[in-house]
Amino acid sequence: MEKKVYQFTFETYPSVTDLAEGDAALLLKAREITKLAYAPYSNFQVSAVAKLANGEIVTGTNQENASYPVGICAERALLSALGTLFPNVAIDTMAIAYHNLNGESNKPVSPCGMCRQALVEYEGRTKHPIRLILSGMDGNIFVVEQANQLLPLSFGGDDLK
Ligand code: THU
Repeated sequence: MEKKVYQFTFETYPSVTDLAEGDAALLLKAREITKLAYAPYSNFQVSAVAKLANGEIVTGTNQENASYPVGICAERALLSALGTLFPNVAIDTMAIAYHNLNGESNKPVSPCGMCRQALVEYEGRTKHPIRLILSGMDGNIFVVEQANQLLPLSFGGDDLK
């Protein structure tokens, strides 16, 4: 028997003013567009803003549905748009913010499991890590160097060979 350890390091920042300029701009944009989410059922507005390797900035928000499982998270809404609009362009950084209209929005949340799987697929497809900036409307911020760090032992295309 052998035990293996999985660990990763991520950064935390107390406030958006502590981020580098480009990262701060991306997060501020994400915070600003949470209001564009369509989240009448959960009142949990999520936004994702991608900075692409070609410099383009593209945004997405969660889109809910009265038939709840039909709804889609902000991250996957954005990835679907990117896969169509810029199919071969890598994502350098994605800022993800949320505004909980029923509660507080002052600590980071991480992408859900399904979005982690989608992010890891995108990293593989573009052969490029996606940096994640995670935060609410204010307060602490997490920066994760690559999305696949959030999905250890992930299932991927190689497993289908
Ligand atoms: N949601 C996201 O958009 N991204 C996540 O990573 C977590 C959850 C959305 C889905 C749903 O519309 C609402 O937040 C509440 O779960």
